[in-house]
Amino acid sequence: MSAEARQAFARQAKEAFSGLLLAAAEALRVEVRLLDLRGEVIAGSGATDRGVAAPRLRAPIEHRGVTLGQLEAIPGCPAHEPLLRALAEQIAARFGGEQDLDRIADRLGQAYDEINLLYRFTRIQQPDRSLAENTVDLLAETAEMITPRLLILGRADGQPLQWHCPLATDRPQALRWLVHAPENLAAVQAEFARRALRPEGPGERCPGALLTPHGMIDYLLVPVRTRAETSGFVGLFRADQEAPLETGEVRLLECLAKELSHGATYHRLLEELNEMLFSTVRGLVAAIDAKDEYTRGHSQRVYHISLLIAERLGLPAEELQAVSWAALLHDVGKIAIDRAILNKPGRLTDDEYRMIQTHPARGCRVLEPIPQLRGILPGIRHHHERWDGRGYPDGLQGEAIPLVARIIGVADTYDAIVSTRAYRQAGTLDHALAEIERGLGTQFDPRIVPVFLELAAEGALAALTPEAEGNQAAA
Ligand SMILES: [Fe+2]
Repeated sequence: MSAEARQAFARQAKEAFSGLLLAAAEALRVEVRLLDLRGEVIAGSGATDRGVAAPRLRAPIEHRGVTLGQLEAIPGCPAHEPLLRALAEQIAARFGGEQDLDRIADRLGQAYDEINLLYRFTRIQQPDRSLAENTVDLLAETAEMITPRLLILGRADGQPLQWHCPLATDRPQALRWLVHAPENLAAVQAEFARRALRPEGPGERCPGALLTPHGMIDYLLVPVRTRAETSGFVGLFRADQEAPLETGEVRLLECLAKELSHGATYHRLLEELNEMLFSTVRGLVAAIDAKDEYTRGHSQRVYHISLLIAERLGLPAEELQAVSWAALLHDVGKIAIDRAILNKPGRLTDDEYRMIQTHPARGCRVLEPIPQLRGILPGIRHHHERWDGRGYPDGLQGEAIPLVARIIGVADTYDAIVSTRAYRQAGTLDHALAEIERGLGTQFDPRIVPVFLELAAEGALAALTPEAEGNQAAA
C-alpha cells in the first residue's frame, strides 16, 4: 500500500503541486522543490541549482504514517522551517484527500458493478427455466463483465469441465491449452477436490498456480455449494504475462458463486418437493384404483408404460415429468362417475356411454385449481382422442392431439385389453399387441406404435400386466 501511495505521489506531484511550489518560491525568494525518497527531484521551482555548497532545508511529506517524499528549500534558512513544514503538511493533506476520493470512487465503482451484476442475475434466474439454462446464462453474463479473463465452471468430483467462456485465438496459449482437453484441467480439479474433502471445507477462496507447457497460470477458485455440500467451483484464470486479478473481479466471482449456489439449492429443493408430491399422489391414485377390483393398479401401469414409451422416444426431462403426472392422473375424472356405470357388466346405454365420455373433462376440472398441474391438463383431456379424429372429447386429429395424450392413449388401451373388466375377461398379450398394431394410423400415432411394439418385443412390458402383478403379490 505504501509503495503504491509513493508511486501515485510521484506520478501526480508535478502536475498537482508545481503552482504551489512556484508561489512558495516567489514568497520566500528561494528554490522550492519536491524530492522522492531517493532524493530525486520530481517537481520544483528551480531551473538552476545554486550549488552543492548552498544550505538546504528539508521537511518530510507524510500521509497516514507513510513518507511520500520531501520538500526542499535552497538556500535553506532556519527561519523558513515553520513555513516549509506547513507547506509540506498542506501538500500531504491535498494528496491524501485526492487519494481518499479515488478510493471512494473505486469502491463506488465496485459496488455499482456488484449491484449491476446482481440485477442482471435476478433477470436471468427464472424458476420456470431449467437449472442448466440459468447456470449457463449467469456464467456468460459474468464472463462478459470480466472479459478477457478465463472463467470456468468445474465440478468438485473431478468430472470433465462443465463450462468455460469462449477464448479468442489471440488469448495466451497457456489458457487455450488449459481448456483444450479435459485432462489439462485435471490438476486444478484434483487440487480443488483435495481441499473440498478437508473437514473444514475448501474455504471461500482457493488460489493456486499451474505450470503448463506454455507458461504459468494463476487462478482463483470459489466453491459453489448446494445446501451443505460443495458441488463445484467457479474459477478465474490468468496467464503470467497478464495483469493480476483485481479486487473487483474477485468480488464478482464470489457474487457469481453465491448466485449459482442459490440456484442449485433452489432447484434441489424443488426436485425434492416434486418427488414428495408425486409419491403422495401415486399413493392416493393407488388407493382410488384399489377400491375397484377391475381397475386396481391401472393408473400405475399406464404411468410405467407411458414413461417407457416417452423415454424411448427421447423426450427431454421436463416432458418426461409431464408424461408421468398426466399418465398417473389420466382417469382421475372417473371419481365423479357413478360406480354402477363404471362396473356395469352388460352393454352401456347411450346416456351411460356419454357419461363415461365426460371423465377426461371432469378430470381436468378436478385438477385445474392446482397451478403446478396446469401443464398436464391437455394430456388428461385428450387421452381418448384418436389419430383419425374419431375420438373424444374434441375429435382432435393427428398431431393436433398433444403428444403426451397420444402416448397415454396407447398405454391405456393396452392395459385395458390385458385387464379383466366387469363386462369381459382379460385379453391375452398377443391379442393386445395385435389390436395396437391394427390401430396404427387410425386410432394411434403411427410413430408411437412401432416404439410400443419394440418395447413389448424386448420384454419391457412383461412385468406390467395385472396378471404379472397378481403373481408378484402371491409370491
Ligand atoms: Fe380414460
